[in-house]
Amino acid sequence: MTPHNLQTIVDDIAAEMAQHTLRGKVADYIPPLACVSPDHFGITIIDRKGDVFSAGDADKAFSIQSISKVFALTMALGSVGDSLWARVGREPSGSGFNSIVQLEWEKGIPRNPFINAGAIVVADVLLAGYQPKEVIGEFLRFLHMVTGDNTITIDKAVAQSEQDTGFGNFALANYMRAFKNIHNPVEKALGIYFHICALSMNCQQLAMAGRYLMCGGRRGPNTQDTIISRQRTRRILALMMMCGHYDGSGEFAYRVGLPGKSGVGGGILAIVPGIASIAVWSPGLNTTGNSKLGTIALEHLVKRTGWSVFRADK
Ligand code: DON
Repeated sequence: MTPHNLQTIVDDIAAEMAQHTLRGKVADYIPPLACVSPDHFGITIIDRKGDVFSAGDADKAFSIQSISKVFALTMALGSVGDSLWARVGREPSGSGFNSIVQLEWEKGIPRNPFINAGAIVVADVLLAGYQPKEVIGEFLRFLHMVTGDNTITIDKAVAQSEQDTGFGNFALANYMRAFKNIHNPVEKALGIYFHICALSMNCQQLAMAGRYLMCGGRRGPNTQDTIISRQRTRRILALMMMCGHYDGSGEFAYRVGLPGKSGVGGGILAIVPGIASIAVWSPGLNTTGNSKLGTIALEHLVKRTGWSVFRADK
């Protein structure tokens, strides 16, 4: 794929998305998300040479929400390694991102690190021996390091709203604490979780952040700096494929065929291993809480590039 072709493709996709009238429903559980216009659409692709192709609202910041769970997982694996898997599973949940039902059957062990319960356990793991402020600072430093961009911030109003309305997350955390799978006070673990979800980024920054997943754990295409091992990168990508879109993960794999992680802010980070890091954003969500136009845009992109990991090369 020449750079010229990729720029044409993202321009075409942005133009096509602008025509859509059925754009899904914007998340309305907190005011800072409810007031975002569904008219936005942005896309950025960074290829294996490090070239950047953007179209639409690619430079407009949005709340990346659950996409952060990929970065939190990367950090938690870096600090406790595979012992993490004693406290959180690696199976698709087949239920909504905020579901509590499986936790009783499975004795407080969440199915995977991307549903809310699993990400709260990851936040608790990151907290071990630290204060919430230190962990949040470390999380931001991680994002600054992988993107090379120190302007990325946490939106305090979003974090506060999450805190004010997060009764379901408090229920999940307390329930897991009853099973001894949350080791710190729930308020502290949730403080980290809410701040992690409130990270504000644009498509260009998000695609930059995904480069280490494209590059087998190296920070980017033009460096030997290593963020995580090749094997761990492959495993995080496997989790993104199986669990990154909650009970919509099968549909996303079927339609797009790439490891991806969505957030209720309407963003999706999708990775073509060894080839591209892609960020799309459109705030309207489909019935499984994943970006409606973001998914359609990725489907179009994969059709035009042949980038699905399930492609059968002749
Ligand atoms: O905890 C919550 O429910 C939200 N802060 C994050 C949810 C989210 O992004 C789920 N993804 N689609």
